[in-house]
Amino acid sequence: MVKIVEKTEIAPNVHSCTVEAPDIARKALPGQFVIIIPDEYSERTPMTISDWDAKKGTVTFIFLEIGASTQKIAELKQGDELYSFTGPLGKPMEIKKFGTVALIGGCYGIGGIYPVARALKQAGNKIICFSEARSKFLLYWNEKLEEVSDEVRYSTVDGSIGFKGHAYDDIEEDLKTGKKFDRIIAIGCTYMMYRVSEASRPFSIETITSMNTVMIDGTGMCGACRLVVEDKTKFACVDGPHFDGHKVDWDIILSRRKAYLDEEIISQER
Ligand code: FES
Repeated sequence: MVKIVEKTEIAPNVHSCTVEAPDIARKALPGQFVIIIPDEYSERTPMTISDWDAKKGTVTFIFLEIGASTQKIAELKQGDELYSFTGPLGKPMEIKKFGTVALIGGCYGIGGIYPVARALKQAGNKIICFSEARSKFLLYWNEKLEEVSDEVRYSTVDGSIGFKGHAYDDIEEDLKTGKKFDRIIAIGCTYMMYRVSEASRPFSIETITSMNTVMIDGTGMCGACRLVVEDKTKFACVDGPHFDGHKVDWDIILSRRKAYLDEEIISQER
């Protein structure tokens, strides 16, 4: 069991949770994830690691309160314990000097791009972060992103701050007007990552997406997280979670996205 040292609702329905997990904090690298079981009757839920402090022995993840399991975590408070917290899992994001890197984050992915932006900045890259939400009040970690970026661009569907629309439209406009990026990284909802990949495809800019398929064990044994990349079956948990968005078969992923929606609703009602 791991103890929650801090839990805050940083935007409506979006929570930041920091737990005591010294072994994971010592080993975590940007782009990795953990699998959480809130109590002994809960399912296993993968969460991207958003931050960690090796000295304090803490790990932070951001989550959207969206189903039964995340609702259970949202109800916990400082001092409570999570039944299980396993990680760090998955391959870390490739960190080296690429040049100019655009990082696009939406929902939990705003927290997901933060440690990647920080590491890429330290590696000498120019960092442009695109942070998106439906409205200004749903954005979070603005200062943290600004600290590790050369520029932070905001997009909101209602136009309350920054670009009016989605980040994938914003970056597409950039690309069409000749702006150069050496690498694009997108973390967030499946549809957003798909649209970012489609926007950059004509420009042949390597676009890394962090696949958030359903996971159970997170160690390559169950097959629940499989996806197709260049006609080959891959497991998001051990082969990823990062894959070239131009090589991912998005049709399969998008069609499986709501496979358990009915069960999710029943579980939440129970
Ligand atoms: Fe089971 Fe990836 S979660 S194989």
